[in-house]
Amino acid sequence: MTRKERVAIIGVGHVGATSAYALMLRALFSEIVLLDSDAALARAEAADLSDANAMARPARIWSGDYAEAADARIAVVTAGAVTHGAQSRLSVTAESAAIVAPCVEQLMLAGFRGVLLVAANPVDLMAMVAYRASGLPASQVIGTGTLLDSSRLRQTLAALLDVAPDAIEGLVLGEHGDSEVVAYSGVRVGGLTLEAFAAGRAAPDRGLVADQVRDAGYRIVQGKGYTSFGIATAIVRICEAIVRNERTVLPVSTLLRGEYGISDIFMSLPCLIGIDGVAEVLTPALSDDETRDLRASAETLRRSFAAAGLAAGGP
Ligand SMILES: NC(=O)c1ccc[n+]([C@@H]2O[C@H](COP(=O)([O-])OP(=O)(O)OC[C@H]3O[C@@H](n4cnc5c(N)ncnc54)[C@H](O)[C@@H]3O)[C@@H](O)[C@H]2O)c1
Repeated sequence: MTRKERVAIIGVGHVGATSAYALMLRALFSEIVLLDSDAALARAEAADLSDANAMARPARIWSGDYAEAADARIAVVTAGAVTHGAQSRLSVTAESAAIVAPCVEQLMLAGFRGVLLVAANPVDLMAMVAYRASGLPASQVIGTGTLLDSSRLRQTLAALLDVAPDAIEGLVLGEHGDSEVVAYSGVRVGGLTLEAFAAGRAAPDRGLVADQVRDAGYRIVQGKGYTSFGIATAIVRICEAIVRNERTVLPVSTLLRGEYGISDIFMSLPCLIGIDGVAEVLTPALSDDETRDLRASAETLRRSFAAAGLAAGGP
């Protein structure tokens, strides 16, 4: 029996601790249990968050064990290998899988039945690893995917077009990483296509915008050593959609089963999110180039999975 008011965060480094803080401020859960292989770190983060909590809305925040995490409605997996400088996310596939798989196995052994939300990178492959290690239905395993990249796209276009980001509808699909695909054919500003809205203004350079969106994470990592606020906010947004059974549509990483001819790999498409996770995977009309690039993105992921020795059944 999951406790709908409890969230578990596995790995409380930069991403996990920032997510815990953001979840606390949003008051989505009344219980936040933190786990980390560095138990002293988890205790310290729980104590620090509890201090802040006294000035926010009350939640019980503590460093716990897998038995306590198993009761959670959502378990967020941020324990994973980190990248440095210009190192690609895919380059740490094997290292990250060796962290994610045992975490998920322990969680399942303790009886977890909720939704697994994976943020560890490379997030699409780690969601696949978590799916295999968990034995959960695919709908209950979600990677944060390109929700963050889509937010970066909207932010970048908004700045160029001088409108608010929420006036822009736009999706980045595929891998959360170098092979990601900006679905320009579906970008709308107040219902207008990008061309129609930009008529009479300086039109954004599509290639340049895609480069900026793709490289945003690298630039942040080069400057501060890690990223935290954007991904933590994406984690909060997905948790919120689940807990409130919103049935909203978010671009997140999910198991594909034939969409655009792609199967047996996790990557991002727009997903209908409800109380049990992914209720439906949507397949918006894409241009031929976008479809081709999406398939290429799936192949990139598949190759990395195999190269890390994970294709034949996982670590
Ligand atoms: N999906 C995204 O968009 C996105 C964005 C930013 C970071 N990330 C990824 O999130 C992960 C975490 O990044 P970070 O900056 O917080 O790293 P970090 O090193 O600060 O934190 C990782 C934490 O995991 C803990 N950990 C390691 N092995 C563990 C285990 N077996 N059990 C429990 N805890 C364990 C470590 O002690 C550490 O506290 C990385 O893989 C990173 O690439 C993903």
